[in-house]
Amino acid sequence: MTRASVTMDRHVELPLPLYATQSVGRLESQELGTFRLVVGLDEALVAQLRAYSLDERDRDIQDSTSDRERFGTGSYEEWYSKNRLPFALVDDSGALAAIVWFGPKPLGRKSLKYLTDAERAEELLQKEDVWHTLVYRSYVPYRGKGLMTPFVRACVDEYLHLHPEAKLWVGVSTKNVSSIVLASKLGFIRREDSFDAEKQWVAMVRE
Ligand SMILES: CC(C)(COP(=O)(O)OP(=O)(O)OC[C@H]1O[C@@H](n2cnc3c(N)ncnc32)[C@H](O)[C@@H]1OP(=O)(O)O)[C@@H](O)C(=O)NCCC(=O)NCCS
Repeated sequence: MTRASVTMDRHVELPLPLYATQSVGRLESQELGTFRLVVGLDEALVAQLRAYSLDERDRDIQDSTSDRERFGTGSYEEWYSKNRLPFALVDDSGALAAIVWFGPKPLGRKSLKYLTDAERAEELLQKEDVWHTLVYRSYVPYRGKGLMTPFVRACVDEYLHLHPEAKLWVGVSTKNVSSIVLASKLGFIRREDSFDAEKQWVAMVRE
């Protein structure tokens, strides 16, 4: 496993208009070199996100996430309008290596693939409270390379700097070992009252 560390150069400045990006730091990996850590996705990064989300060869993305619908066939603009704040790791050729995003979302609210039609209709009407969701993805060839713990930790620190009142939660499939290990390394623990045995899903929280 590679060793990697993040250096932050500046704080995020809000508001961040749609498709604006700010370079806020860098991640150095012994094996893989230097990545830019940016907040906000420009149109070139969104195009890559869409392509990754539609990639049928990436079974981890297709089976463990709603990204095909969220970013592949769905509208990035609509998603962004739900007060989502995306961070990205970008390699020296401009390739999107990984993303992390946050946004207000009631604790335990499942993603699209788990919702009924009626629940989906309510999705845009959700009330904001202190709970904010944390979501992360890494993309091949950068998945499983030890980049995510330092990357996600730096993003969490920055998000909490912007929203000191926020309580963070991650929704995971209980079969998704990598995601659970990553969340645990970041200090998240299972919230047992959210466990859905039928859907094999649980919320992990860091209060
Ligand atoms: C979940 C996901 C983001 C994890 O990213 P990753 O690139 O595998 O993460 P890393 O290689 O940086 O590993 C993170 C840490 O977890 C550990 N880890 C990862 N998978 C592990 C496993 N199966 N068993 C034990 N430890 C594991 C790593 O050793 C690393 O530990 P370290 O930081 O102490 O070195 C990535 O697998 C992914 O995007 N999957 C597809 C989409 C997805 O499932 N997203 C999450 C939905 S909730």
